[in-house]
Amino acid sequence: MKVRVEVDGLVDRIRTKDVIAGVVGLGYVGLPLACELAAAGYRVLGFDISEETVSGVNRGESHIRDVPSSTLASVLGPEGLEATSDMSRLVECDTISICVPTPLGKTRDPDVSYVAAAASAVAQVLRPGQLIVLESTTYPGTTRDLVLPILEESGLEVGRDFFLCFSPERVDPGNPTWTTKNTPKVIGGITPSCLEAGEALYGEVIERVVPVSSTEAAELTKLLENTFRSINIALVNEMAQVADRLGVDVWEVIDAAATKPFGFMKFVPGPGIGGHCIPLDPHYLVWKMKMLDYKTRMVELATEINAEMPRFVVNKIQDGLNRHRRSVAESRILILGVAYKRDIDDVRESPALDVIRLLAERGAEIRYHDPYVPVLEEDGIRRESVPLTDEELSAADCVVITTDHSTVDYERVVRLAPLVVDTRNATRGIEGGDIVGLGGNGTEEREGRREEGLPTALMTAGG
Ligand SMILES: NC(=O)c1ccc[n+]([C@@H]2O[C@H](COP(=O)([O-])OP(=O)(O)OC[C@H]3O[C@@H](n4cnc5c(N)ncnc54)[C@H](O)[C@@H]3O)[C@@H](O)[C@H]2O)c1
Repeated sequence: MKVRVEVDGLVDRIRTKDVIAGVVGLGYVGLPLACELAAAGYRVLGFDISEETVSGVNRGESHIRDVPSSTLASVLGPEGLEATSDMSRLVECDTISICVPTPLGKTRDPDVSYVAAAASAVAQVLRPGQLIVLESTTYPGTTRDLVLPILEESGLEVGRDFFLCFSPERVDPGNPTWTTKNTPKVIGGITPSCLEAGEALYGEVIERVVPVSSTEAAELTKLLENTFRSINIALVNEMAQVADRLGVDVWEVIDAAATKPFGFMKFVPGPGIGGHCIPLDPHYLVWKMKMLDYKTRMVELATEINAEMPRFVVNKIQDGLNRHRRSVAESRILILGVAYKRDIDDVRESPALDVIRLLAERGAEIRYHDPYVPVLEEDGIRRESVPLTDEELSAADCVVITTDHSTVDYERVVRLAPLVVDTRNATRGIEGGDIVGLGGNGTEEREGRREEGLPTALMTAGG
């Protein structure tokens, strides 16, 4: 009976907004969630180990592009959101959502030390009636095998004294349509009462909550979603290389295939994969399955194909420069866009960084422009974004479009740059200039195929 009393009491208090909601980790995932909780009428304590992040949030200055400072400022205050680095204040929280990073270690194995540290901080203050939800992307079994034992060191029992769930975050930075609030949220609990408490909390904040039968099912759901993306991106990246050799425009082919109203989903090629999810998450699954003596062949092959893309891009740059009788070593190369995707400021795992590294190893003089990333510090080198002036464009031997930010005038880029390597098809439809595409879609490809005397059908398919 005690179980029901605990969970019923918590659920009732969640529904009447009579709880304090805690969010641990105020990054891309945690800050939007904290703001949604506050906007839904909860008092929210946001925890972060970074003093800079905490003081910024408390000043109403958002460090996350998807959370405008005006939105943050509107939910700050004693009845709304307050940030703190004092982890002992976790005791004040009735619900605690953990949104800390899950990177890879040096050997590309999962680094769950942030999750363990956050769980330990919670364990120090754990008290009856608290709901803990892990949101960080991780391998199946983390909630039960890593987090639960840490929490149980308190002597409290899960499903009776406290409640534990896993609910993967699905935030898509820069997506104006799908936000934390309207993206359905999957959740699994260690026990049925855990799930009941978790569903109650997210049901107040998120439009649709999707319960699953276990924390492992919720953990694997997230990894299925992200390996699905990784594999499909690898397929179109491979198709770009196929089309390149055939002299067929891969973008045209993808657009044509996408007219099929069923059984096809559009993915586009690029210089590689980036961000905190797609390049990392498959490794979590691969690692876990290795422990269970299973080789996830398709997942690993996709990772391999995607990882090779920066090299393919550099080969394209090399070929383009060759036609201009220049070597990479004596060239000035302007990288256009270093964020891992359009209109965001996140450079984590960005393939542009790999392209820069490979070009720098070959001796190129590298400059970059990114309206969202004023400073870039990589491999101990600090670079500053240069203004995209006419002089900058014409002084470059090659301009490489690594990220297709929508604020850039690509017509001007093509007009002024002596050579453009376009990995995103940002120059589609622009006439003139010397453009090298990723998959049989640049002017260079069209000319080259013509010289080789390929059939007209293949020639005109380019660009
Ligand atoms: N960024 C995305 O698009 C995205 C999308 C879906 C899921 N995820 C997953 O969500 C998790 C968080 O990712 P993110 O992008 O928000 O990371 P982030 O680096 O933007 O934010 C994490 C925050 O946690 C703080 N932190 C680290 N350890 C802490 C601790 N012990 N206590 C309190 N704060 C701590 C950091 O200072 C940082 O501010 C990861 O597992 C990631 O895979 C991210």
